[in-house]
Amino acid sequence: MYLIEEEEIMRHLSAKPFRLVSEVADELQVEAYVIGGYVRDIFLRRPSKDIDIVTVGSGIELAKAVAGKLGRKAHLSVFKNFGTAQVKLHDLELEFVGARKESYQRDSRKPIVEDGTLEDDQNRRDFTINAMALCLNADRYGELVDPFDGLSDMEDLTIRTPLDPDITFSDDPLRMMRAIRFATQLGFFIDPDTFDAIERNKARIEIISKERIVDELNKIILAPKPSIGFELLDRSGLLDLIFPELTALKGAETREGIGHKDNFAHTLMVLDKLCKTSDNLWLRWSALLHDIAKPATKRWDKRLGWTFHNHNFIGERMIPGIFKRMKLPMNEKMKYVQKMVSLHMRPTVLADDEVTDSAIRRLLFDAGDDIDDLMLLCEADITSKNPEKVRRFLRNFRLVREKMAAIEEKDRVRNFQPPVTGEEIMDTFGLPPSQPVGVIKEAIKNAILDGVIPNEYEAARRFMLERAEKMGLKPQP
Ligand code: CTP
Repeated sequence: MYLIEEEEIMRHLSAKPFRLVSEVADELQVEAYVIGGYVRDIFLRRPSKDIDIVTVGSGIELAKAVAGKLGRKAHLSVFKNFGTAQVKLHDLELEFVGARKESYQRDSRKPIVEDGTLEDDQNRRDFTINAMALCLNADRYGELVDPFDGLSDMEDLTIRTPLDPDITFSDDPLRMMRAIRFATQLGFFIDPDTFDAIERNKARIEIISKERIVDELNKIILAPKPSIGFELLDRSGLLDLIFPELTALKGAETREGIGHKDNFAHTLMVLDKLCKTSDNLWLRWSALLHDIAKPATKRWDKRLGWTFHNHNFIGERMIPGIFKRMKLPMNEKMKYVQKMVSLHMRPTVLADDEVTDSAIRRLLFDAGDDIDDLMLLCEADITSKNPEKVRRFLRNFRLVREKMAAIEEKDRVRNFQPPVTGEEIMDTFGLPPSQPVGVIKEAIKNAILDGVIPNEYEAARRFMLERAEKMGLKPQP
């Protein structure tokens, strides 16, 4: 599958930037190679814009010379402490680094370097499939240097460290997550020795910054089938360290012959299902977190069996703590996830019941423009194995959708703004900001949502006057 014709490699390397690096490297009489993700992605036939160039010499000198030849089209940045430099050319990014004996860590704060050979450099990379290099010097142009047989691992769909995995992972423990992330993104298997080393070294993840960890988690969540990654994280023991709320969902208890579902397995099923209909990272996070409060709210009730009362609202409240700890953005993205988690049962309950106009209006009002996302989440949440039950839910969801469209056209409550404002209420009755104003405003809102009056100014004004009269309030002359 990955047997790429030489011609194809040459086609990639015929791009101008590679020709230029080749020319400059030969002039400077240094070896230069394209290495890492770009080479891997040629074999995977994936598009790649980040090009890593390693030279047996100074990466900065090579980058400067290349940028010099490109003139004003290119933008050069030098990171002296790290011995690296970047040349940006349109949407291409070329990273230059000198071959080193030390571990390759792109965002390490540690200044490096001890110069090394190409082999030293390849030794200290994360995985065999990421350690392959293509020579750019004219006399060996396009020659593959693959000391760990990354190509075979590519064909066998294997993630394996070039060195003893204990060494590779202790060089940079984030690589444990990278292994799982690549396995998830690419549908690869982790070599058993490599996987055992993740289990052995898992505790070292604590020295890694939350930002780098969440970056990998996001990549797992954005993969076509994130459950692969979460199951591997769980099996390796990493998940318990980085995301204990998720492992708390595991297990299914039975009492008096009544069991509940394993909420970890269910959550992953919902996430995978949602990934088929949405690429939205934050909706995917919502799927991952939709039942997060089930362990905290689980009760055994003699009459009802297992209950998880209010798990949606408790879940909504747990989210800021999780986002804060994980260094996820505590802004409108988080609010969106909170909203999805808090509302995730509403359309399902609706679809189970008689679908009243009033319930639809309230749902539209509460979900606003996120209603379509919410419906996707709810549809993904149906994981029942009973085909009749699933059919019934999907039929009712269709009904809910049709009703929503009809009501939205008529009442426009999705982005509801009360037709009579608090100010108008205060002016009309000569009231200061006070409780009665809130009561009247809420009553108007409910009357509209319940369909007692249409969502129009005249009707709302009339309703306000009637309601106020009942409270003993008279309009100002
Ligand atoms: N690398 C490594 N150890 C790390 C990070 C990176 O050895 N912790 C090396 C690998 O050779 C990798 C290369 O640096 O291929 C580039 O790293 P990066 O750009 O982070 O990843 P890619 O492999 O290009 O993949 P992606 O862009 O999907 O992250």
